[in-house]
Amino acid sequence: HEYDLLVVGSANADLVIGVERRPGPGETVLGGDLAVHPGGKGANQAVAAARLGARTALLARVGDDDHGRLLLGSLRAAGVDPVGMLVGGAPTGVAVITVDRSGDNSIVVSPGANARLAAADVRAAGGLFGAARVVSTQLEIPVGTVVETVRSLAPGSRFVLNASPPAEVPAEVLAACDPLVVNEHEARALLGDPAGDDPRRWAWPLLALGPRSVVITLGAAGALVADGLSGPPVMVPSPRVEAVDTTGAGDAFTAALAWRLGLGEPLATAAAYAARVGAAAVTRKGAQASYPTEGELPAG
Ligand code: RIB
Ligand code: NA
Repeated sequence: HEYDLLVVGSANADLVIGVERRPGPGETVLGGDLAVHPGGKGANQAVAAARLGARTALLARVGDDDHGRLLLGSLRAAGVDPVGMLVGGAPTGVAVITVDRSGDNSIVVSPGANARLAAADVRAAGGLFGAARVVSTQLEIPVGTVVETVRSLAPGSRFVLNASPPAEVPAEVLAACDPLVVNEHEARALLGDPAGDDPRRWAWPLLALGPRSVVITLGAAGALVADGLSGPPVMVPSPRVEAVDTTGAGDAFTAALAWRLGLGEPLATAAAYAARVGAAAVTRKGAQASYPTEGELPAG
């Protein structure tokens, strides 16, 4: 395989303002200086994997604008193969982000060019699929593009979906996931309301939706992993770190997980590695800007 990981997904410019406390409905708060960081769940995954040493390509669309150039620069600096990058059709996607004192965020995304990443773009990139051990995606691109991604998988390559942000996921896509990666919000969205409060109870109903395995990320508490074939869900702890900015930590987690699974690691082992990557990412500002190299990982 030429690539350890092919990411199909979004690329955004993140417009970030630090605040004491994120505003409630109808409320105005003053924040700090505006920062513009490269982000987007797809580009984040690609950069995170490449920083760790994975041979990575990204199929994504940005606008022919300064934000697009910011993204292309970040991908290049991380060593992501730009072969799948498409430019034009709409302005680069933008995420408006507030980050509070505890490092928690709220995000609103304007998809821009991400909404123009079409099924036809996936078909045109067909050759990349045969070259990739693992293909991963998220839900910031049109659902038809995600469906075409699943249909384009080469025999024997593994598919990882981070079902973020919450959206309807067709059964065909769920059935291809190995694993489906969700946080608590996304798990609730997929399961509907009667899910209860204990994430340990969510693994089986999520598996019943069709994926071959499930990973539920629980922030500082780590992750719960469930393989459809072996016994009960397993809790994988996360190293303790001081949170500065959690933006994009889930993307780094998913990318590291996908890469390590492609290398043949068992799910719990890959998740433990991914938890170290996610933990490192929360200790620095920004998404891509915060992603660690192998040497920067905290002990497991
Ligand atoms: O997951 C974090 C990402 O979500 C940010 O980089 C932002 O662009 C949004 O896509
Ligand atoms: Na971060």
